[in-house]
Amino acid sequence: MSDVKQLSRSIAGLTVVVTGAASGMGRATAHVFAGEGAKVAVTDFDGDGANRVASEIAERGGVAQAWTLDVADRTAIDTVVGDVAAQFGALDIIVNNAGISVRVAIDDPTYDEAWGHALAVMLTAHQRIIRSALPYLRRSQCPRIVNIASTEALGATALHSPYSAAKAGVTGLTRSLAVELGREGITVNCICPGPIRTAITDRIPEEHKTIYAKRRTALGRYGFPEEVAHMTLSLCLPAASFLTGAVIPVDGGLMARNA
Ligand SMILES: NC(=O)c1ccc[n+]([C@@H]2O[C@H](COP(=O)([O-])OP(=O)(O)OC[C@H]3O[C@@H](n4cnc5c(N)ncnc54)[C@H](O)[C@@H]3O)[C@@H](O)[C@H]2O)c1
Repeated sequence: MSDVKQLSRSIAGLTVVVTGAASGMGRATAHVFAGEGAKVAVTDFDGDGANRVASEIAERGGVAQAWTLDVADRTAIDTVVGDVAAQFGALDIIVNNAGISVRVAIDDPTYDEAWGHALAVMLTAHQRIIRSALPYLRRSQCPRIVNIASTEALGATALHSPYSAAKAGVTGLTRSLAVELGREGITVNCICPGPIRTAITDRIPEEHKTIYAKRRTALGRYGFPEEVAHMTLSLCLPAASFLTGAVIPVDGGLMARNA
């Protein structure tokens, strides 16, 4: 029998860009990666929020810098990606996380606007960031892309069609790029979070959250942002070198549950 190879479980020293990192799962991801010794580019539309998260990380002894980045702005993406690589000397990992809540009926007069915005922020942005970062990823020893979709990509809720369409698009983008970039050793995976306690779900009353989680999930509760961030970290380890094109629910068993 051949020896079992010891694969690295360390991301120390790697550079990661996290979008939408001022809040929720993006913030938790920035903290989890920094805690493991990565250099973290904390990017968000909300520049003050990004600064706050970068300061929190620095206070805990981590390496982070904040950038204001609206992921719907193509020019800004190229500028920030270039700045991050120049500042940290490399760019190894992309976490496409920024997202918004979009609730609109199919016959609403603002539907087209909602559709355009949902796709710009939660689908088009992903491919633009990946294309912008590709030259750097190609030079990395551990090139990883993680796209955050949603269980709404796998099963849907009424009045959320632009959101569901964007998130389902992310699963297609993930699989296609995994196949296209696989020969270069670049892995592309997708996480579908279920109900998670973040700013997006803050407005849902606690009793509704409890009833929903008990009725729909196997674990009977909402998840915490850190529980998604740790799956993102797992997908980015050097040891996760044979995992690509996967669409992984992190949902407390929501998609597994039938009754
Ligand atoms: N919370 C949930 O239950 C849940 C479930 C499934 C999927 N998701 C997805 O997880 C991701 C993170 O969401 P969250 O729940 O942590 O929400 P959140 O509101 O806590 O965080 C989202 C972050 O994205 C930022 N953002 C919004 N528009 C942006 C833009 N144009 N450019 C850059 N940043 C922008 C916000 O400023 C915010 O900091 C989103 O893609 C969301 O769709 C969330």
